[in-house]
Amino acid sequence: MASTPPARRLVAGNWKMNLDLDAGLALARDCVRELPNPGYPVVLCTPAIHFAVVREALSEQGGVYLGAQDVSRHESGAHTGELSAAQLRSAGCDYVVVGHSERRADHHEAGAMLREKVDRALAAGLKPIYCFGETLEQREADQVEQVVAEQLAEGLSHLEGEGFAEVVLAYEPVWAIGTGRTASPGQAQDVHAYIRGWVAERFGASRAELATVLYGGSVKPANAGELFGREDIDGGLIGGASLRAADFAAIARAYA
Ligand code: PGA
Repeated sequence: MASTPPARRLVAGNWKMNLDLDAGLALARDCVRELPNPGYPVVLCTPAIHFAVVREALSEQGGVYLGAQDVSRHESGAHTGELSAAQLRSAGCDYVVVGHSERRADHHEAGAMLREKVDRALAAGLKPIYCFGETLEQREADQVEQVVAEQLAEGLSHLEGEGFAEVVLAYEPVWAIGTGRTASPGQAQDVHAYIRGWVAERFGASRAELATVLYGGSVKPANAGELFGREDIDGGLIGGASLRAADFAAIARAYA
């Protein structure tokens, strides 16, 4: 049965580039109805076109938060198409995804850019949901821990403990994202235990004990309970299944 301490629990939906304005509003309303007072943070990371209407829908009850899927590395100014951390905050976002594998792949996000995004988010009062994970080739070459350590370090090791305390970690093996192929609970737990060890080494044992470490990659109602029941898996970052309120709610309730 579930052993995740309630203080570490969090479930986030990543809508990616899906849903028009009306469909996004309808989904947010359904999520709120399906998840009355979830008891731990539930986050909807929506496209920016939805912020205003979703914020309104979420204001009717507590516990469900708005998140963005990316943030600019720049503070403000002549950066066409970008959204700053302060803009996201002013639109009602509390969380922001940083370093998703789709952005690492499509937009070559890495290294200094990720550090700057994390810093901008923290400075504006946003909690970064920092994503990392290996490809199938890297797993097959036995490089999982090395890749995870490198990706954690590139975005986070410059932080002080206080900044780090605001960060949510999301381990998302690239081969499991959108493929229907989920890491087994044992495979995920092994990596999550390694991640918590990495945090303990950089930021101390008590930060590691409190860190929220999500799993992402084809989480569904049918596998969420078993994943979230593992000692170091605190919740999930949910893509496809977050587009159906009933499935997303079933996943968000899977701790019990
Ligand atoms: P998925 O996506 O649940 O559709 O695999 C997860 C993610 O990319 O965050």
